[in-house]
Amino acid sequence: MMSKTNVAVFVSGSGTNLQALMDSSIESANIAVVVCDNPGAVAIKRARSRYIPVEVVNREDFESREEFERQIVVRISRYDVGLVVLAGFMRILTPYFINLFKDRIINIHPSLLPSFPGTNSVRQALNYGVKQTGCTVHFVGEEVDAGPIILQAAVPVAQEDAEENLLEKIHAQEHRILPEAVKLFCEGKLTLIGRRVLISS
Ligand code: GAR
Repeated sequence: MMSKTNVAVFVSGSGTNLQALMDSSIESANIAVVVCDNPGAVAIKRARSRYIPVEVVNREDFESREEFERQIVVRISRYDVGLVVLAGFMRILTPYFINLFKDRIINIHPSLLPSFPGTNSVRQALNYGVKQTGCTVHFVGEEVDAGPIILQAAVPVAQEDAEENLLEKIHAQEHRILPEAVKLFCEGKLTLIGRRVLISS
């Protein structure tokens, strides 16, 4: 039997990417815990409906980002986490956390990075007038949305697209490439060489 990597999925909102990860039942990955910074997030219900433990750590209960992260580290310490997946986690991590899980944190972002990092990326892309946008799964480094790219998917922007339906098209691609990237990581198929991520078959 293939050994499984314990995965911690970090969420803040609706959790459709978490849902995609749960639904794809990756043989090499075990979603051991879901961490959520927002007590009202729909993502919590999604995790609980699959009996996945949820650790809610409310950012508002902590004075600094680092104290918040230290609490997260305490909460996930019992799960032997081998991979952290940021699936719509709307907090920027400090070097403290990033170094603790060096090269073991991945993020999904709704643009073709390095274009449109940060927030409101779909609106930024629309307003800029690009003809193609998409999504990116990347390793997380200290600079926001700038780590080595694992997978990308392009989405053409149609003339009549508004933010909402463009986001829907991007989501459909996210739900495909995030599980694929997690699978590749957990199967040991990703090699980091400088900024480049090599994928073995
Ligand atoms: C996703 O579109 C993800 O790319 C984005 O948040 C959304 C979460 O949706 N992440 C970021 O913007 C991070 N900078 P979900 O909660 O339905 O998975």
